[in-house]
Amino acid sequence: MLYPISRPVHTVTLAFTGASGLPYGMRLLECLLKADKTVWLLYSQAAQIVAKQEMNLTLPAQAAQCADMLRARFQAAPHQLQVFGKDEWFAPPASGSNPADAMVVCPASMGVVASIAAGTSDHLIERAADVCIKEQRPLILVPRETPLSAIHLENMLKLARLGVCILPPAPGFYQHPATVDDMVDFVVARILDQLGIAHQLMPRWGE
Ligand SMILES: Cc1cc2nc3c(=O)[nH]c(=O)nc-3n(C[C@H](O)[C@H](O)[C@H](O)COP(=O)(O)O)c2cc1C
Repeated sequence: MLYPISRPVHTVTLAFTGASGLPYGMRLLECLLKADKTVWLLYSQAAQIVAKQEMNLTLPAQAAQCADMLRARFQAAPHQLQVFGKDEWFAPPASGSNPADAMVVCPASMGVVASIAAGTSDHLIERAADVCIKEQRPLILVPRETPLSAIHLENMLKLARLGVCILPPAPGFYQHPATVDDMVDFVVARILDQLGIAHQLMPRWGE
C-alpha cells in the first residue's frame, strides 16, 4: 500500500497552492532544476496571491508566460520546465498513461488537501494528485496550517493511510539555522530526501 521511491525520479509534477510557504515551493523548484530534473509546474489562483504577498513575485495568470518567467529566473531549458494551467486536461500529469515519477504539492492548502482526500479531481492539481494515488506513484504533500482542526487531521490521516507522504514544513532548530533561507532549506532537504534526489543543502544528522 505504501509507495516508496522504487524508481529513479526524473520527472516531478510540482504544484503550488494557496497556503503560506511559497518560498519552500520556489526553492524546491530551483533545486529540482539544478538537479537536472524535468518539472511540470501547476499553480492555483490562490498561489498567485500568496506569491505576491509573501515574495512580491508575480506568477502570470497565463501558464505560457509563467513558464517564460521561471525559465529565465532559473536558466532552465523549455523541455526542462513546463507549466500547465488548471484546465489543461491534455497535459501529461492529467493521465495515468503518462504521469510524472512523483508529485509534490508545496505548499498545500487545507482546501487542496481536502479535495485530494475526497478525490474530486476538479482541476489539474487535484487530478494529477488523484492520478498519482491511483497509479501508486509517490505523492508528497507539504500542508501548512496552524492549528489543525479535526477535519484537516482526518483528511491527512486518510491520505497517509493510502501511502501519501504528509511532510509538514516544520524546520528543526538543531542545525542552528541563522537565516530564513536555512529554515526553508531544512524543509526542502526533507522533500528531496523523500524523492531520492541527492543534495547538499545541509549536513545530515551525525555528520
Ligand atoms: C496570504 C494568504 C495566506 C494563506 N495561508 C493559508 C495557509 O497557510 N493554509 C491554508 O490552508 N490556507 C491559506 N490561505 C487560504 C487559501 O489560499 C484558500 O483556502 C484557497 O481557497 C486555497 O485554494 P487552492 O487550494 O486552490 O490554492 C491563505 C490565503 C492567503 C491569501
